[in-house]
Amino acid sequence: MFDLQRLAAGHAAALLRFELENRAYFARSISDRGDDYFAEFAERHELLLAEQAAGLCHFHLVVDDDGAVLGRFNLVDVDQGSAELGFRVAERAAGQGLATDTVRRICELAGTDYGLTRLVAAAALDNPGSLTVLRRNGFTPIEEIILVNRPGLRLGRDLTSR
Ligand SMILES: CC(C)(COP(=O)(O)OP(=O)(O)OC[C@H]1O[C@@H](n2cnc3c(N)ncnc32)[C@H](O)[C@@H]1OP(=O)(O)O)[C@@H](O)C(=O)NCCC(=O)NCCS
Repeated sequence: MFDLQRLAAGHAAALLRFELENRAYFARSISDRGDDYFAEFAERHELLLAEQAAGLCHFHLVVDDDGAVLGRFNLVDVDQGSAELGFRVAERAAGQGLATDTVRRICELAGTDYGLTRLVAAAALDNPGSLTVLRRNGFTPIEEIILVNRPGLRLGRDLTSR
């Protein structure tokens, strides 16, 4: 069984393990976080929780029965009813519909619990998994962008129309 949980102080060790175990896997499709991220993980975790408490972000983890993190789904830059969605799923949990299903649940939460009316997201054109997840959840292209030196798309979804 998987559980969708709001990021909390007690997640720090499991989240660091998730990021370390999947670092090379993630770096094949998105920017590597860099060594500083891992060296300063504890301080950053505290900062994220402070931002969340201030209502600037909403962070979520998908956690298995053993407490291992299988995915993280973040809503950042909350502003005037809008937020930016980002997500990553562990290599060992990939290809099972986890991202598709969890983005659907995050969109519901965003509208009901967080009072948001619109989400945006960005994906590189050579990241078909991410684009598929977003399109299946009703995100449509807004504009072409450059995402860390790669052509990409900014997509958006209105949360008020369904
Ligand atoms: C992109 C990512 C979140 C997808 O997670 P996931 O849980 O495997 O996604 P799903 O199982 O819901 O897959 C959605 C669809 O995309 C397809 N897909 C996933 N990865 C793919 C890939 N590399 N190439 C082509 N299609 C892919 C799946 O096959 C699935 O389609 P299907 O149901 O027809 O088989 C995950 O691969 C990941 O974390 N990648 C690294 C980080 C990243 O790219 N994050 C997104 C940044 S915008």
